[in-house]
Amino acid sequence: MHNDIKHILFTEEQIQNRIGELGARIAQDYADKNPLVICVLKGAVLFMSDLVKRIEVPLEMDFMAISSYGVSTKSSGVVRILKDLETGVEGRHVLIVEDIVDTGLTLSYLRDSLLRRDAASVRIVTLFNKPSGRKIEITPDYSGFEVPDEFIVGYGLDYAEKYRNLPYVGVLKPEIYS
Ligand code: XMP
Ligand code: MG
Repeated sequence: MHNDIKHILFTEEQIQNRIGELGARIAQDYADKNPLVICVLKGAVLFMSDLVKRIEVPLEMDFMAISSYGVSTKSSGVVRILKDLETGVEGRHVLIVEDIVDTGLTLSYLRDSLLRRDAASVRIVTLFNKPSGRKIEITPDYSGFEVPDEFIVGYGLDYAEKYRNLPYVGVLKPEIYS
């Protein structure tokens, strides 16, 4: 285990098993819909690449980068598009792939923006859900794990761009960010 991690919340095996379950459910719901699966960079990139392998129906992928965070561990509430889609979403069934829903500000902004571009439907899959952090009401359509109100890193999730490559998810030692 990495020295900056206080304890592991989800092992690599637990994460992969849960992704298999999510992928199977999503495949059932999207058979014949050729969904446009959108990865929210950078945090969701590991989840995206494992998830799409488990959604065994035809789909397309695109990528978007959005920022609601600086280097701090608290959401600023300011959402910016850093990189937009290459694919038009009009008439498409869109599935947003997120790493974690905390305040909900990022996803609520993103969902509204895709609906304004006339997507046929917009659903959200998040690997982690932190319901205690909500500032705006939003419920992911598919959610991997509920997490406590602690700052977590690994499997795509970073603190100041570090720890994204850990294959598990853990809680950072408080002395690292305080
Ligand atoms: P909101 O608050 O808009 O935030 O729902 C979603 C984004 O916030 C980041 N986030 C975290 N990143 N550990 C992280 O590494 C966390 O515990 C955490 N909580 C929120 C994340 O980038 C997510 O996409
Ligand atoms: Mg993120």
